[in-house]
Amino acid sequence: MKNLLTVREAVESDVKTIFRLLEIYAAKAIVLSRSEEDIRFYLGNFVVAEIDGVVRGCAAVRDFGNDLLEVRSLVVEPGFQGKGIGRAMIEAIIAGLKIRRNHWRLFTLTYQVEFFKALGFAIVDRTLFPEKIWSDCSKCPKQACCDETAMLVEYDTRL
Ligand SMILES: CC(C)(COP(=O)(O)OP(=O)(O)OC[C@H]1O[C@@H](n2cnc3c(N)ncnc32)[C@H](O)[C@@H]1OP(=O)(O)O)[C@@H](O)C(=O)NCCC(=O)NCCS
Repeated sequence: MKNLLTVREAVESDVKTIFRLLEIYAAKAIVLSRSEEDIRFYLGNFVVAEIDGVVRGCAAVRDFGNDLLEVRSLVVEPGFQGKGIGRAMIEAIIAGLKIRRNHWRLFTLTYQVEFFKALGFAIVDRTLFPEKIWSDCSKCPKQACCDETAMLVEYDTRL
């Protein structure tokens, strides 16, 4: 039987699971570590993906204003990768943005270039995103030695 994959907005009872999922990859410096308090405070930014009713992935969107947003805290549980969970979360985020906004730019700093290419993102110059550099990057142990790639997808109904 095929597994049922669903994406939904995160709720309070997801906080511990999101924390646990992020810690797996924060330990490898792939994503930033986030406290349960921080996740709870920004819970409205998160979606989670479930396989057969069990949360196996999460992703958040941070709004920098001026129609600039960032995908962050994107992870899929080990053992559940390569099954379309990451794609489903990013597609859900993009579908939500298309409903709510006429124009947006969604960026990410990532090691997963091929994944984001498959989702329509293109590589861009990271200096396009000064807001990001001055907020999260100051919390990251890598700071000036950052080796992530900046990627962007843009949508404009006027084009
Ligand atoms: C990156 C990650 C979120 C992708 O999620 P996933 O569920 O494994 O990816 P999906 O199965 O949805 O893949 C979607 C597409 O990307 C492609 N893809 C994913 N990872 C890829 C890779 N490393 N190389 C090439 N293609 C890749 C898939 O082939 C698929 O293409 P298709 O839909 O056209 O067939 C997940 O692997 C993960 O959690 N990795 C560790 C944490 C991490 O790196 N997070 C990202 C921080 S920015």
